[in-house]
Amino acid sequence: MALAISFDKENQIFTLSTKHSTYQMHIEEHNILLHLYYGKTIATTPLSYLICRQDRGFSGQPYDVGDAQGISFDTSPQEYPTFGSGDYRESCLSVIGTKGETGADLRYVSHEILKTKPKLSSMPALYGEGVPTLAITMRDTFLPVEVLLYYSVFEENDAITRSVVIKNVGTDTVYIDRALSACLDFLNGSFDMVYFPGSWAAERMTERVSVNHAKISLDSLRGTSSHQMNPFAILCEKHTTEEQGAAYGASLVYSGNFLMEAQADQTDQTRLVVGIHPQGFCYELAGSTEFVTPEVVFSYSASGFSKLSHNYHNLYKKHLLHGVWRDERRPILINSWEATYFDFNGEKLLKLAKEAKELGIEMLVMDDGWFGKRDDDTSGLGDWIVNEKKLGMSLHELASKVNALGLKFGIWFEPEMISEDSNLFHTHKDFCLRAGDRPYVRSRNQLVLDMSRADVRDYLFESISLVLQSAHIEYIKWDMNRSLCDVWSANLPPNRQGEVYHRYVLGVYDLLERLTSAFPEILFEGCSGGGGRFDPGMLYYSPQIWCSDNTDALARIKIQYGTSFCYPPSTMGAHVSICPNHQTRRVTPMAMRAMVAMTGTFGYELDPALLTQDEKEEIKEQIAMVKEYHPLLSKGDYYRLTDPFKNGRYAAWEFASKQKDQALLCFVLFKATANPATIYIKCKGLDENAFYQINGEGVFGGDALMNAGLRVPALYNDYQSYIFLILKI
Ligand code: DGJ
Repeated sequence: MALAISFDKENQIFTLSTKHSTYQMHIEEHNILLHLYYGKTIATTPLSYLICRQDRGFSGQPYDVGDAQGISFDTSPQEYPTFGSGDYRESCLSVIGTKGETGADLRYVSHEILKTKPKLSSMPALYGEGVPTLAITMRDTFLPVEVLLYYSVFEENDAITRSVVIKNVGTDTVYIDRALSACLDFLNGSFDMVYFPGSWAAERMTERVSVNHAKISLDSLRGTSSHQMNPFAILCEKHTTEEQGAAYGASLVYSGNFLMEAQADQTDQTRLVVGIHPQGFCYELAGSTEFVTPEVVFSYSASGFSKLSHNYHNLYKKHLLHGVWRDERRPILINSWEATYFDFNGEKLLKLAKEAKELGIEMLVMDDGWFGKRDDDTSGLGDWIVNEKKLGMSLHELASKVNALGLKFGIWFEPEMISEDSNLFHTHKDFCLRAGDRPYVRSRNQLVLDMSRADVRDYLFESISLVLQSAHIEYIKWDMNRSLCDVWSANLPPNRQGEVYHRYVLGVYDLLERLTSAFPEILFEGCSGGGGRFDPGMLYYSPQIWCSDNTDALARIKIQYGTSFCYPPSTMGAHVSICPNHQTRRVTPMAMRAMVAMTGTFGYELDPALLTQDEKEEIKEQIAMVKEYHPLLSKGDYYRLTDPFKNGRYAAWEFASKQKDQALLCFVLFKATANPATIYIKCKGLDENAFYQINGEGVFGGDALMNAGLRVPALYNDYQSYIFLILKI
């Protein structure tokens, strides 16, 4: 196999090689860094021959190329395009100099091939021993600004990460008003874009559109990665399906405003740019300081979405998640939210815990309402002091009693928020974001703390630490229940307010870093009104994220389907809740609810006292099953067997072990019909030459199950579900 990173001096070509892909760049005359190719492995030929220097008219020349009209930033594929240098497409970088002159013109200076991946300063990123990294230094032709382009190659996962460090190597202050993480230019090909929009309770729906000359802008300006658009997208060929066709993934390791924009240009070359959204962004770069962009993770699959998802799942499970819980089976929990909402005390929770224990549940999580004055969502946020009066006992006593019952104990926080009706607000009004003296903009009756401020973070670290030290707490649900607006900080001068959105995100990461380091044993679960911040930045700190506030199993099938394109199922917080479901009023069978929740981190969100004896027996069996199949569910390859946005009759998905010796196939019928057509599901990830037994009955060849299909037994009822355990014999 080719070296992961090589430089062909004679042809001035950089080649990055993963197991199945090649990425090439070329240092052209005048030290212009061109992008040549990204796609299926090409090992034979330097690809600079692809560049066509044709004058296209109205595409100007860089100042130093004279009258060579074929050379233009606008018509050739750029590695890190800049604004104002004659490239009229979306750019990655724009710098404002001391006279207000705006733009940049970057040229190659030098490069270094590092044996390992450097740590990204102040931000989460992929990690790994011995991951080769290319660092290319570029310099502006006018301002003393240096730009380092980093490329790390994860060969096995067919992934390349990119991030950028922008340095002011002079003395005068400049401003950056656009600093994206990466660009991908494709010389040819016509593409579709698949992306994951949504809303609260309907996150990561799936859409696919054709990339033409109109810009496709996927973004969030909510200060978080958002329910409304996930920072993950796929560029693919027109014919790409789950099993075939080229697919390029772009996943941004960032939890704030972002932009992913794709467009075909005047000669049908396609450009994709990815990074922090330039709107509301302007960063002061004083002399000898630097700005670091978040990391973007590209991955390539020559054989469809399934392989692309496996690349991301394997990569994120090994090189993004970290800490003691990374590879551990997570405790099966019961969460108090849908069981009690704000209406609980210690005794009620202990009753919940006692009944949960009898079912085999392993952890009780006390959700919102245990602190300050908090009996509804109008007060208390920011006062992270246990309300012993409401609980009727201390936190220590409650946790000890839960532990004595044989359960772990977990607790909810919403650190980034403040209620006006709180002690914190009365003493520290300036702690919250507010657009100068403008009136506050409220959402869910709450305001947002200015996480860009060190004193705010210190307050949170100290008050949260005191709670954590006061009792045996083994899990934290880190919630965040509104989008940002009024983004202005009392701590920064007017010319630096464009930094607040980004500094807010850095502040959240800083607090998470401090808390996860101080309490390394605690399992963190991310949450933002469900899955409003389901992104790799948060996954770095919390190896599971509450996927959605919508616990209706039918709705969850679509949500988890969309989420699975990038994120491993084992990171998706998923619970069985009571029926009628609290979000949709739908009634579905317990078996189906459990099967859907089993796809993610399994738990319950209900009051066991409301269950029938039969349901309780069912739950005991579900828990035993989840425990038994945990290795398969967490380490196996996940396959989407149907598309719930297209198939309105049924859904199926599967986990297959990497050794191909076992698989678990989940099936659910949506609506029963009279005299239904028989359903056959083609399994995936099995050995064509092996034989398998399904649920202990019948023997079938892997080739038959994968090519002719598994025959689904009789279907009589709405939401009838089956779990097929497929074992190699
Ligand atoms: C939103 C979360 O997603 C819910 O699970 C619950 O924790 C509430 N917030 C509590 O306010």
